[in-house]
Amino acid sequence: MSHSVRRHLRVDVAAYDATIRRFIPGYVSMLETAAEAVAAVKPGLVVDLGAGTGALSEALLSRSEVGTVELLDVDAQMMHRARARLEVFGDRARFTLRSFDEAFSPCDAFAASLSLHHIPTLEAKSALFERAFQALSPGGVLVNADANMPTEPRARERLFDMWAAHMVASGITAKRARQHFEHWANEDTYLPVDAELAELRTIGFEAERVWERGPIGVVVARKPA
Ligand SMILES: C[S@@+](CC[C@H](N)C(=O)[O-])C[C@H]1O[C@@H](n2cnc3c(N)ncnc32)[C@H](O)[C@@H]1O
Repeated sequence: MSHSVRRHLRVDVAAYDATIRRFIPGYVSMLETAAEAVAAVKPGLVVDLGAGTGALSEALLSRSEVGTVELLDVDAQMMHRARARLEVFGDRARFTLRSFDEAFSPCDAFAASLSLHHIPTLEAKSALFERAFQALSPGGVLVNADANMPTEPRARERLFDMWAAHMVASGITAKRARQHFEHWANEDTYLPVDAELAELRTIGFEAERVWERGPIGVVVARKPA
């Protein structure tokens, strides 16, 4: 599968880290919350799915409870920046240019931020959750920070309004914010969080949303020990 952040978000990769903060409500708190939930299980190996420029991996590697982080991504330009950013962590950071649609190897935790919305259907996302469950060691976690949207139109519109308000407060015009949503909809799918939690629980995870800021949230799914 090929994907280019420069084309999809219409953001220069060098500007990604500043721009994503303007796009995403609570971006830094979201990453910190996700990293804390992963660190809580003291994982030897974490796989960061759709790691981009490595912001979540950096939050993970900054915690002494976390061993090695393998960054997976299909965008070589994003991974190039992640390599430079994480050089200080030496061989605790590993880089694999590969899709999260391919087979997973055994690990103690999966982490993802703003990447699994690239999966177009609940069925396909559930299949990834199932593969993650099989690959995780007992007691391991899948922590997913991302946007979710309800199906009910008014509730959905209210969350898009909250999202747009964050972007306006970050200096983006309301019209431009709406244009971004329209453009992102070509590739992004924001599923209802309750549907995702139900899939995770059916697979065998203990799952809950532990943090939220409007449409953005952090889901922690734990494989029983
Ligand atoms: C919006 S960026 C998020 C990057 C980073 N996790 C963050 O929070 O800033 C989404 C990332 O997911 C990656 N991506 C999209 N589809 C993918 C796939 N099938 N396999 C691996 N990475 C993928 C993109 O290349 C991009 O780097």
